[in-house]
Amino acid sequence: MKKTIRDYDLKGKKVIIRVDFNVPMKNSIITDDNRIKESLETIKYAIEHEAKVILLSHLGRIKTEEDKKNNSLRPVAIRLSELLGKPILFVYETRGKKVEEAVSNMKNGDIVLLENTRFEDLDGKKESNSDAELGKYWSELGDIYINDAFGTSHREHASNYGIASRLPNGIGFLIEKELKYLEPAMNDPERPFTVILGGSKVNDKIGVIKNLVHKADFILIGGGMAYTFLKAQDKEIGASLYDEENLQFCKDILSSYCDKIVLPVDSLCTKSIESKEGFVKTELDSDDIGVDIGPKTVALFQKYLEISKTIIWNGPVGIFEEPAFSEGTKSLCKILKQNQGVTILGGGDTASAAINFGYREFMTHISTGGGASLEMLEGKELPGISIITEQ
Ligand code: 3PG
Repeated sequence: MKKTIRDYDLKGKKVIIRVDFNVPMKNSIITDDNRIKESLETIKYAIEHEAKVILLSHLGRIKTEEDKKNNSLRPVAIRLSELLGKPILFVYETRGKKVEEAVSNMKNGDIVLLENTRFEDLDGKKESNSDAELGKYWSELGDIYINDAFGTSHREHASNYGIASRLPNGIGFLIEKELKYLEPAMNDPERPFTVILGGSKVNDKIGVIKNLVHKADFILIGGGMAYTFLKAQDKEIGASLYDEENLQFCKDILSSYCDKIVLPVDSLCTKSIESKEGFVKTELDSDDIGVDIGPKTVALFQKYLEISKTIIWNGPVGIFEEPAFSEGTKSLCKILKQNQGVTILGGGDTASAAINFGYREFMTHISTGGGASLEMLEGKELPGISIITEQ
């Protein structure tokens, strides 16, 4: 068990909380504030316990000056202030006099948010390469470090690993909740344990399949990645997504674990994605593009899901952003809603599909991690969490 924010007396202490405010934005407008909302519990706890709260987060990936303009955390500061009903002091810098003054002027219960930690990446990737001097500088701003950025825990960066290695530390409520659901599901699941994998690329899920094929009872595969598996069985996949490089991997997995891997038996197809016209097919023609699982596949997947006591789902099974191609993903949400066992969703797209379709409250847990939850499913250690002290 890791130390948590509860293990510290926060009163009057400068508490650095690493949050993951890497939220989707369009023209500086936040299009999904779920990650900000999920971080509120820890921030509220810290201010109620009279801490001086210093928030750090990255946003996007910063390679040019132009990227800096488009990835300021200012809109996040405004949204966070609305959600907390409290002013936030936003500092447009990541280090220097303004940062130090803002921190030294803080009173108990105040919140300061520094600018995007990855602005430091323009100068030799200091944040992303966990520059020692930068980690030391940030650590000297605070007394205690709390990691609550689950989504960033697979990164070994200055603002998580670098600070945690220099200060008394712990995890926040968001990470505690992620571990509470993900760890038992991965290590000792109630069976049958079924994994649903979707998304477009086989390559993104190879590590997950390799790790989970030994642990899960069934792996149901949908989405664009399913067509490379179908091709591996010599099925016609028309003009659907195909990943030739990983064809042999699919063949090998299917021959070793044919009893565990369940593939689609029909597809919603289209002749052109822009047309938004779909038709169900069990056998595809050479110009058909598979865009969703079909009704027979939903019924087949349902048989496995109905009997499952633990379900982990990562990756939508169709182009769910397009209403005409979203039925398969919606149907799986409905099936999981009925399930009385543990239902865990990971990955940004799966989470936003379930939340946008109105199923948030019916799932046991929706992870805030994209890459981090995938790496956890791959059985990898997450450096941002492993650096945190054990109780
Ligand atoms: C995420 O959104 O998965 C995390 O914030 C990590 O972002 P990154 O992939 O740019 O490191």
